[in-house]
Formats: sequence, structure tokens, C-alpha cells
Amino acid sequence: MSFDEMDVDTIWMDGEFVDWDDAQIHVLTHGLHYGTGVFEGVRCYDTENGPAIFRWDEHLQRLYDSCKPYELDIDHDPEELTEATTELLANEGLESCYIRPIVFYGYGSLGVSPGDNPTRTAIAAWPWGAYLGEEALENGVEVMISSWRKHASSQIPTNAKTTGLYVNSMLAGEEARRNGYAEAIVLNKEGDVAEGPGENLFLVRDDEIYTPGLSESILDGITRDTVITLAEELGYTVHDSATISRGELNTADELFFSGSAAEVTPIRKVDNVTIGNGSRGPVTEEIQSKFFDLVNRRIDDHDEWFTYVEA
Ligand SMILES: Cc1ncc(COP(=O)(O)O)c(C=O)c1O
Repeated sequence: MSFDEMDVDTIWMDGEFVDWDDAQIHVLTHGLHYGTGVFEGVRCYDTENGPAIFRWDEHLQRLYDSCKPYELDIDHDPEELTEATTELLANEGLESCYIRPIVFYGYGSLGVSPGDNPTRTAIAAWPWGAYLGEEALENGVEVMISSWRKHASSQIPTNAKTTGLYVNSMLAGEEARRNGYAEAIVLNKEGDVAEGPGENLFLVRDDEIYTPGLSESILDGITRDTVITLAEELGYTVHDSATISRGELNTADELFFSGSAAEVTPIRKVDNVTIGNGSRGPVTEEIQSKFFDLVNRRIDDHDEWFTYVEA
């Protein structure tokens, strides 16, 4: 669905709510030219207790952390951003939706050094269904190992969710789709598994769970952390600092992606190799089902992970 078809009228920008069509920036904005922005992608679920934003505090913390290497100074404190977001969702009557906070260097001068350019902050939200499609959640996706490598963390901080980083994600994802796959897996500079263009990756082998460690050039995903917590609660051993070689993908019993957008999406094929029995595996299904029960508040543990929106 395009933005034009959506029934959302406002966006929060630099301290005030503005009409959707007026949420504009100058064409000489620093962030547009050099990718000097940081952002978040957060989901809000429609639960029996009203709309509930999943792990908002952790996303907000990552937003502030992502600013650090770029010396971006958010002019608003976390409480103000939280209030702006819950007010935006309530005003727009949004229940199940995706929230996109973004902070970037604005207009002022266009040297690579941002100098005194202002820091701009915006928060938008809109309804957004399953990222890789409903069918993918059940049957899994076919993915391609990208010919593009992830940035090494010695080249750019890969643990900061920086707008400029997503050029690499776009290249990898589009290459995969051009070749008939739903998504890519991107290897790091060493040639080991890093993550998807917008997802972390999990591997299941002999009933144990593995995911690349933070030094493998991955984003420290909040859904990744959720999956690790839920899997351990279900009694699985989780190796969360794994180095996973490309070949180990082929011999995995199960593979799945995690992400705020992709949620928990099984992977059924990597290039020409069928993973496990070629459909959602039992461990993935158990974790996925616990994840959706949790975020939809059909089970009431981890209430600390939810920020409720008052009508
Ligand atoms: C490159 C990358 N890796 C992993 C993730 C998953 O992170 P999270 O679970 O915090 O959404 C994302 C999505 O934000 C991403 O863009």
C-alpha cells in the first residue's frame, strides 16, 4: 500500500505535529547527501489492552546510541519522544502499525563536516503488514547469498542504525529480488554470515540455536534479543556469539530471520539448497508462535516490553 492510500494525516517533526504533506525538508539537507542520519523501525501491536508498542524503550535507547559516533544531538529527551509517539498513534487512531523515528543533520551548509547544521527529528507511523508477506511467515522464504559484503565495523559502526548503511542493504535485497529470491543473506568481510539486509539470522542445528555475535558486523537487533530470551525460556541452548560459515547454512536443520519488520520469518531455501525439510521447522515454529502470542498479548509475560497507547 502506498502512502497516498493511507489514512494518516500528521507526522511529528521537531517538536510539533505537522500535516503529512507539510513534513518536508530542503533539498540541500546534509542527511540526504551524505546519509548522516539514524533511525528506528518499531512495531505497535493491536492487543486486548489497546495498542502496545513493542520494546519502545530499547528502540529509543538504540536511537540515542546510534547518534553517538556522529555527534548528533537530539534536541528532545526520551520522555518527549515517547509522548510524541503515543500521542501520534492515539490522534491517528493507529492500532497495529509501524513507527519510524528518524534523526538527521539538516540544512545549513553542505561541506561533509556538518558544522552547525541543525539536528532534525521526526516520527512517523503508518499501518504495515507482514514485511516479507503473510505467506512467508508460514511457509518461509527463499534467500540468496548476496555478492555484496557487509561493511566491516572498522569502516563504519555497524551497531548504529545509520541511514547511509542501508545503501548496502538495498543493493543486497534488490540483487536477490532480481534473481527471483525474497531476500538476501549478507556475509561479512571475512566471508562468514552476518545478517539479512534488514534482519538478523538464526540457525538451528541438533536442537541448539546459533546466531552471529555482535563482532560479526551485525546490528544488535531488538528482535534478536527477544528471540534469544524466548528461546532460552523455552529451554533451548542459544549460542549468541557464533561465527557461522557460509557452508553451515546448507547443513542447518532450520534457519530463520528476526527483525521488527520481518518479525520471525522462516528461511526454506538458500540459493539452490533446501534447508531441512523445505518448510518452517519445529523449533522456528515454536519460537515464532511464542513471539506472536507475546506481542499480541495472548500471554501476559514480559509486560515491561510494552508501552501502551491510551485512547
Ligand atoms: C541490518 C539490520 N539487521 C537487523 C535488524 C533487526 O533489528 P531489530 O530486531 O531491532 O528490528 C534490522 C532492522 O532494524 C536491520 O536493519
